[in-house]
Amino acid sequence: MLLHLTRLRHRVISDMKYVTGIRPTGNIHLGNYLGAIKQAKELGSYVFIADLHGIHSENEVFATRDCLRHLEIEPLVQSQFGERHLRMYVDLHHYATIGHLSRMTQYKEKSEKEAQVASLLTYPVLMAADIFYLQGTHIPVGNDQVQHIEFIRDLHDKLPGPDFPKPIAIVSEYPRIMSLTDGTKKMSKSDEDDMSRINVMDNPDTIRRKIMAAKTAMNIDDNTPEMINLKTIYKAVGGKEPHTKFKDFKTELADLIISEFNLSKT
Ligand code: ADP
Ligand code: TRP
Repeated sequence: MLLHLTRLRHRVISDMKYVTGIRPTGNIHLGNYLGAIKQAKELGSYVFIADLHGIHSENEVFATRDCLRHLEIEPLVQSQFGERHLRMYVDLHHYATIGHLSRMTQYKEKSEKEAQVASLLTYPVLMAADIFYLQGTHIPVGNDQVQHIEFIRDLHDKLPGPDFPKPIAIVSEYPRIMSLTDGTKKMSKSDEDDMSRINVMDNPDTIRRKIMAAKTAMNIDDNTPEMINLKTIYKAVGGKEPHTKFKDFKTELADLIISEFNLSKT
């Protein structure tokens, strides 16, 4: 089950609790922001840094916290949840099946590239412990996490008399922001070229420079992958379609991103 943010805005239910986790990768870019974090912020979600998930990869808790604070989000830290959370993580293993866990797309992709450690397989069990421990009802996530939430809902069904809610995933309207240098590739922190993405901590000059250098088309109405992507970003940060002249489009877009990240004051 999945709710779309636009529909949800019209509903007010008092016993909702929004909860989401961010991996401690140290850097947050416009793709992460529009795909997951912006809606969490708008919904007033609890946000935590999932530092227990990051033990084998990047674990930059402080840099990640700085990015989130920059976005005016004060995160919780997963490793500080305490013993009950860890006990839940252990107990949930008795209900999670290896068959279901090994069907997760992220597991299949990562286990081809990385060392095949058990924690890669049981990653969604830790996510379940996070959500159940925090009593989350609605979970704002990026598209790639929806399958994990489905797993967690299934796990919830298997538990004897759980005293926490069965969570629902909420996905963003902008699940796939593309690279600024290649409109067919996802904007990603693993891209070697920093010009391909806007980082939350970039200063206004850098943002302007990156947008000015972004690959584009000859005309604003050309629907090349790059132009579609820039218009999508414009709509996501500006709240409306661009009705601007081509020559002003990029300047306006850069200004919109700068004010979205509240950088105009810095
Ligand atoms: P990256 O792809 O930069 O390594 P992660 O895999 O850590 O980012 O993703 C963190 C969150 O941000 C996920 O929920 C994911 O769905 C979302 N996300 C990542 N890249 C994008 C993107 N280009 N567009 C929209 N959402 C994205
Ligand atoms: N797995 C999420 C990601 O890779 C991060 C995360 C950890 C999370 N625990 C969570 C998200 C609980 C939502 C709820 O982006």
